[in-house]
Amino acid sequence: GLKIVTIGGGSSYTPELVEGFIKRYDELPVSELWLVDIEEGKEKLEIIADLARRMVKKADVPIQIFTTLDRREALPGADFVTTQIRVGLLDARIKDERIPLKHGFIGQETNGAGGMFKALRTIPVILDINKDISELCPDAWMINFTNPSGMIEEALLKYGYTDKVIGLCNVPIGIEMGVAKLLGVAHDRVRVDFAGLNHMVFGLNVYLDGENITKRIIDDLASGKSASEVKNINDINWEPDFIRALGVIPCPYHRYYFMRDEMLQTELEEFKKGEVRAEVVSRLEKELFEIYKDKNLDIKPPQLEQRGGAYYSDAACRLINSIYNDKKDIQPVNTRNNGAITSLPHDCAVEVSSVITKDGPKPLSMGELPVAVNGLVQQIKSFERVTVEAAYEGSYEKALLALIINPLVASDKKAKILLDEMLEAHKKYLPKF
Ligand code: NAD
Ligand code: G6P
Ligand code: MN
Ligand code: MN
Repeated sequence: GLKIVTIGGGSSYTPELVEGFIKRYDELPVSELWLVDIEEGKEKLEIIADLARRMVKKADVPIQIFTTLDRREALPGADFVTTQIRVGLLDARIKDERIPLKHGFIGQETNGAGGMFKALRTIPVILDINKDISELCPDAWMINFTNPSGMIEEALLKYGYTDKVIGLCNVPIGIEMGVAKLLGVAHDRVRVDFAGLNHMVFGLNVYLDGENITKRIIDDLASGKSASEVKNINDINWEPDFIRALGVIPCPYHRYYFMRDEMLQTELEEFKKGEVRAEVVSRLEKELFEIYKDKNLDIKPPQLEQRGGAYYSDAACRLINSIYNDKKDIQPVNTRNNGAITSLPHDCAVEVSSVITKDGPKPLSMGELPVAVNGLVQQIKSFERVTVEAAYEGSYEKALLALIINPLVASDKKAKILLDEMLEAHKKYLPKF
């Protein structure tokens, strides 16, 4: 059978992953699931592992669950390694969200200054994990969920030790499911051509049973219906005339760019109440782990849907399944562009619909992005590339440059003050700076 290693196994999302493997057991015979965490996550790890064992027992599938705090013990023989870590834990996320807001900038864990700092903390750790993979299970696929997922993929492609690295996000699959729900049809009848970057992805075309229905979906969006929302982003309605003129499906994160003032206002109100998303998640997590501890619980509890990444396991398990079984179906993933989006560099990481084969994702040709969004996407890609270099080199100048070219900051003197405060706040997790 297959050996899966999940790094960051103490995550409250892990029961979803377990459910995903249980559901697919007939096609995807996982025999070992190793959950890896660190000392700080030990208690969570054991609660999750106990729940996972009850889940596989209840489902009567022979998946063995192992735990360890030493990833080098887990990696040998792995077929797939999934990564879902949070360097600095939720305390660091609280800082990523609150410090920018204090200075009047959007505070978000994957966009703007917060996203940049999450990248600076995480990239060195992810590269170390990838190095261990190259030594201990060089043929394994590394499937990363850790945010900022697009910048992590960019770093792995540029500085990594193995080539089999794929980045994932629940946003595109969420859009497909949202469209299917709008139409009242099964998910597998809907297909969306996705192109862009992680949390900066657009649905260029929407198909129902192969027929292009993009216009119809855009009209639905314009009339205030939603094609996909995530629990972590306020679902303020789009201006109807804007969405019609745009002509493609935005993702929930585009609100930070196209509704910047409104989003900033709502975030500032949350900031004042001590309710930025990380603070909400901290409470949700405590509730979830209380539920997980219940020895009578042997399924994934519905309360997990309160998290923004709900249903991510469908994306992860679907991807692993298609690689393992060489399904050649189409799924949106973060991978090397290789010319799929002609208006972005060949060698950069993009989020794009791809054919999933045993040799990995083959991105579909998407041409140029529409002129209205191409500039923003290119700008964000520049921000991502400068950030990745800053993280790798520990370069203050590059970090400052990245922050200033980010459209959510775009203010040189204020950016420097913000950068210095964030470097100080996160210094424990930024050994290179
Ligand atoms: P979490 O805070 O529960 O962290 C997960 C686990 O990682 C914790 O148990 C923690 O102890 C552990 N950890 C931290 N550093 C580690 C290390 N160096 N090695 C091994 N384990 C380590 O976080 P979460 O809310 O479950 O999210 C995990 C990650 O996945 C985050 O980066 C989050 O942003 C990301 N995420 C991404 C998506 C997506 O769409 N790509 C969806 C959901 C979550
Ligand atoms: C979204 C994103 C993830 C993000 C998550 C946050 O769906 O795609 O990348 O990590 O939500 O959710 P949370 O519950 O942690 O705020
Ligand atoms: Mn995501
Ligand atoms: Mn918010």
